[in-house]
Amino acid sequence: MAQNREKFSSFGALMAMAGSAVGLGNMWRFPYLVGERGGAAFILLYLVCMLLLALPIFLSESLLGRRAGSNCFGVFKNLPGGGKRWKWFGLLAVVTSMVIFSYYCVIGGWSVQYLLKALGFGFSKAASQAEIGEMFSSMAGGVWAPLIGFALFFISTAAIVQSGVKKGIERFGKVVMPALFFIVIGIAVYVCTLPGSLDGLRYLFIPDFSKITAATFADAMGQSFFSLSLGCGCIMPYSSYMNRDDNILSHSVGTAGIDLLFALVAGCAIMPAVFAFGVNPGSGPSLVYETLPFIFSRMPGGGFIAILFFVALLVAALTSSVSMMEVVVAFFIEEARLSRGKAVAVILVICCVIGTLCTLSFGPLSDVKIFSYTIFEACDKLTSNILMTAGALATVIFAGWILPKADFMDELTSSGKYSSTATLCSIARFLIRYVAPVVILAIFVMGLIG
Ligand code: TRP
Repeated sequence: MAQNREKFSSFGALMAMAGSAVGLGNMWRFPYLVGERGGAAFILLYLVCMLLLALPIFLSESLLGRRAGSNCFGVFKNLPGGGKRWKWFGLLAVVTSMVIFSYYCVIGGWSVQYLLKALGFGFSKAASQAEIGEMFSSMAGGVWAPLIGFALFFISTAAIVQSGVKKGIERFGKVVMPALFFIVIGIAVYVCTLPGSLDGLRYLFIPDFSKITAATFADAMGQSFFSLSLGCGCIMPYSSYMNRDDNILSHSVGTAGIDLLFALVAGCAIMPAVFAFGVNPGSGPSLVYETLPFIFSRMPGGGFIAILFFVALLVAALTSSVSMMEVVVAFFIEEARLSRGKAVAVILVICCVIGTLCTLSFGPLSDVKIFSYTIFEACDKLTSNILMTAGALATVIFAGWILPKADFMDELTSSGKYSSTATLCSIARFLIRYVAPVVILAIFVMGLIG
């Protein structure tokens, strides 16, 4: 089975993985968490979590995926030590991806709507901050606008995935990731020239240690998982499309580095503007959709910056949603022997149902509650607090304790080709075996009680 799989080129693999990692997590979630959690102190904790936790988990997913040469279900079913009981974790990862994919498309749909608004120069100078905020709630709380945005986003993702591993996923990533980088850097440079922007940079880079609390820590860890697409087998199919000659360690470090860089540059594109215009950085999830459009409406040349920003947001979100859909597509292709086209069609049907319910939970279905959460919130909490953490835990235990050490080392060093990295691989193995499981378990318990 592993022989006739399509393979990424080395650069293509890096861009696809970076494409999965860089997304709404960097451009929407990271900036608002930094704003809410007090700037540089949060970033510092985030760095620690990336290095000690997220990177080893990423490495585990990557080496398991390439070793098995299959989707996440195949990883837990076919690798030495896996099988009967373990394969259910693979299935859980597929279900988790399906749910995350469905609600991610809802937020992606908002970016579609905001890009359309920006293209029509719809953030008018005359509007007050409250009016622009109102624009968001009436869009998200409506029926047709968010559903159309959702459908457009969803269909674009499906079209890329349908075109295949090399012609769709790799080609798209190789073109848009570098472009995305230049757009975001360009915006950041421009924003940093605005009068008053220096305070924003200070906020981003000078830590105030009194801001570090247990909650900040939990958020930093959650964000590092989300940002590197961990806990639902997302990296496994991509790694299975990697060549055996590619170095897993350097690809993983590369992906984490690119992801971090994007988050910081997005922070530099947003926080200085927030400070230059004297608005509150801690406005939470609405930062990108309410606060920023207001700033764009006041900024010289803001109409064009808004277009660039929402193009970037949309493209970043698309490369991530493609990776989530591929988890499920690879599962149906390899385990149910469906063609790529049929697999995409099955997912379209399932995720349309979940996604529509999530979309409408901001409007007509806002009164439908599951344990006091709306449908959207319930999907988010269930996946990020429980399913993803369980998935990450299963992954590190499997990679660190179940998979024989010889297989682990052989895969990480590409059968000795990168034997010079053996010491680093041993450090990674230590983190995967001892540090990651304990810390993940701690977050898991905190998530259940909190
Ligand atoms: N990492 C992506 C982002 O930052 C989102 C993402 C893609 C993701 N695949 C995932 C999140 C799997 C959790 C699990 O936007």
